[in-house]
Amino acid sequence: MGIQNFSQEEVLKTEYFYVYQSISTHISLALTGNFQAKEVDSLRSLMPALASKTYFNYGGQGPLPTSSLDAITASWQKIQELGPFTNKVWPYVASEIQATRNQLAKECGVSPNRVGLTENVTSGCILPLWGLPFCAGEHFLISDCEHPGVIAGCKEIARRKEINIDILPIQSHLREGKDNRKDTENSFIELIGKHLHQKTCLIVISHVLWNTGQLIPINNISELIKSHPKKPYLLVDAAQSFAQIPLKDVANVADIYAFTGHKWACGPEGLGGMVLSNRILQESKPTLIGWRSLYKEGHSLFDQPNKFHKDSRRFEVATSCIPLLAGLRNSLNLLNKEGDTYERLSKILKLSANLWKKLNSIDGIQPLLKGEPPSGLVSFMLPENHSTKDIVNLLGRKELWLRDIESPICLRACLHITSEENEINQLIIALSEIIKA
Ligand SMILES: Cc1ncc(COP(=O)(O)O)c(C=O)c1O
Repeated sequence: MGIQNFSQEEVLKTEYFYVYQSISTHISLALTGNFQAKEVDSLRSLMPALASKTYFNYGGQGPLPTSSLDAITASWQKIQELGPFTNKVWPYVASEIQATRNQLAKECGVSPNRVGLTENVTSGCILPLWGLPFCAGEHFLISDCEHPGVIAGCKEIARRKEINIDILPIQSHLREGKDNRKDTENSFIELIGKHLHQKTCLIVISHVLWNTGQLIPINNISELIKSHPKKPYLLVDAAQSFAQIPLKDVANVADIYAFTGHKWACGPEGLGGMVLSNRILQESKPTLIGWRSLYKEGHSLFDQPNKFHKDSRRFEVATSCIPLLAGLRNSLNLLNKEGDTYERLSKILKLSANLWKKLNSIDGIQPLLKGEPPSGLVSFMLPENHSTKDIVNLLGRKELWLRDIESPICLRACLHITSEENEINQLIIALSEIIKA
């Protein structure tokens, strides 16, 4: 049957099916041991942070490979040799920025003009929001699994513009894990349908929830809101998905897709990005304005109506740390050498399934997800008489590093392609001992 014989809905379902089919093929190959995992020891050994500890905080900050640090230092030196403020340095600075924008655009499956550079996820989420023409009486729909900084930013916009905030309760509703994906998608879409208001003008949701590790069907939301009377903007916090989960087609359908290089991409802290839709570029006015927002620096521009870049650079501000760009590109190149995002995710899923199963076998420990996790984030609750903060400290004394989460109260251990089975075993032994004591 030719594709022209399918309805649009069927085509979308089919595309989605292929994405998940591809992930599950890799997972099943990985689980049966047939998957030829590429050698990752080389990457692990490039990360000094991993030499001295058992690390599970990739979702907080990824370890920086030595060669990325070298690339940063080399770039810093080059800037000092050519400049720092001379006509000779500008072509180098411009080429660093362009190369990074191009590489991030490729990772996200979008054109470079839609990528703006930021310092972190939060500013990528919030800066473009401030410039949107929201009106008093409209509604924001924000999931109950968003990061506190993003929620606080949205709340302040809502307060100033007299916008109502509705909460999408997914924290306790979406706990299925990676299997029964269709059921999760259906129940999610039903839930969001119930909480959308006639006047909802913005939806705020993460691609991978930082607390439960659940994967959100962003494409389905984007389809759903096409028929909504206000066509709400879709803001996706990609802090936990960028460089972990295949994100082509997802970054493309969000209005704002904001990410950072310092978590799953294992880049330096202080550099992130935002992918903005054409709608945002047309409808949002620059907010925190500086010389980088202007298409040409100079007084002559002051009275001109269109002085800002037409592309995502209109939300960039001013001087930032250029050497970091080389570091992030190097880290992304190293990850891509280990496999594409599907291959890498299959390894991550194998590890997270293993940890999830072993946690399930400890009496009193309760993973948040009922099924194997769809990402490398594995969150779990402890017996009531144990404080999560105390356990983080106790494990830290053994150089086992994970973090506690406050909502819901739990611990979170993240597994990346550099994680090893013996690290999982060490964590399981340490947790069992602490709980028995
Ligand atoms: C989902 C999510 N959003 C936002 C942030 C904040 O990141 P940044 O400091 O890069 O803004 C984090 C950090 O953990 C996060 O997990």
